[in-house]
Amino acid sequence: MTDVETLLRPHAEQAFAHELAALDAADDRPRPPAWRLSPWAVVTYLLGGTLPDGTVVTPKYVGPRRVVEVAVATLATDRALLLLGVPGTAKTWVSEHLAAAVSGSSTLVVQGTSGTSEDAIRYGWNYARLLAEGPSERALVPSPVMTAMRTASIARIEELTRIPSDVQDALITVLSEKSLPVPELGTEVQAAKGFNVIATANDRDRGVNELSSALRRRFNTVVLPLPATHEEEVAIVTRRVEQLGVALELPPVPAAADEIRRVVTVFRELRSGRTVDGRQALKSPSGTLSTAEAISVVAHGIALAAHFGDGVLRPSDVAAGILGSVVKDPVADTAVWVEYLESVVRERDGWLDFYGACREVTG
Ligand SMILES: Nc1ncnc2c1ncn2[C@@H]1O[C@H](COP(=O)(O)OP(=O)(O)O)[C@@H](O)[C@H]1O
Ligand SMILES: [Mg+2]
Repeated sequence: MTDVETLLRPHAEQAFAHELAALDAADDRPRPPAWRLSPWAVVTYLLGGTLPDGTVVTPKYVGPRRVVEVAVATLATDRALLLLGVPGTAKTWVSEHLAAAVSGSSTLVVQGTSGTSEDAIRYGWNYARLLAEGPSERALVPSPVMTAMRTASIARIEELTRIPSDVQDALITVLSEKSLPVPELGTEVQAAKGFNVIATANDRDRGVNELSSALRRRFNTVVLPLPATHEEEVAIVTRRVEQLGVALELPPVPAAADEIRRVVTVFRELRSGRTVDGRQALKSPSGTLSTAEAISVVAHGIALAAHFGDGVLRPSDVAAGILGSVVKDPVADTAVWVEYLESVVRERDGWLDFYGACREVTG
């Protein structure tokens, strides 16, 4: 066994093994076939809570309870789950944690790209064996989906709509018949109870493949929203940055709260095209300015502050990161950013140091 402490990024089921074990012990509700936990305990794992024995389950996802309940309930039916949303709304994150809590493993993943082939969804062959022995069970290389069907687990498909439509269609039989035919061997793999699929897709991808209606019918779609309020987004960023700091063993940087609030304010204002007080309309830049990007801006700022600064997160530690997130198109976005700096940031009480730092990196 690898020591989890030495891993750069442990899987959810490794990082939160103690929480999953405590939930398993405390959970006396009915569990669907092959589930490690009851749907109630899976929701508690995702949203956090305190167990009767005092174990604190940390919240993984911050968002509406109903969204998580619908997602978990879907997995207990014969429909698959499609998590949809703009980039950075925690689709991948939620998918990983759901698989970890339901099946005890989040690693049966197909990464969808325009180059994803049918083999990645169905099965492939070990060609040396295939040539030496002909088609046989031993020469077959199962896909993560096939393995999940055999082991009554959740398979994850990332970025489903980036996969070419004809390849996506390989999933239709799997999801409707719960079977994966292997014509070369004259056999099929039938899914064990407990098998299901969680797919993620961005609803803002341009030039990607639509889901065919036949496939869409097999999925229950759950939309993950952007954080509803400023407070909620600050809480998400604060918690994730703290966890990342621990995982990366960054020296502790205290009192980052002010800078986190400012980063979140800037992101929310530019994203929504309106100042927080609602008074002033703003132009939005082309990037998505997701919560995930806010998290990396702050985490990067903390690395700067810890290694090159005085150990306190300063505006100059986050300014370059914000600029990088806002300005994706060097001409149009720079104009939007400068206008925002001059008309909003400069005028705002207590933001002069922040304005100066942003101005300096903008040039
Ligand atoms: N509502 C949220 N609750 C908890 N974490 C969130 C939330 N929104 C974003 N994040 C964080 O953002 C990061 C990126 O999310 P990710 O799952 O990669 O986004 P997506 O797959 O939707 O593009 C993750 O580290 C996740 O923790
Ligand atoms: Mg993702």
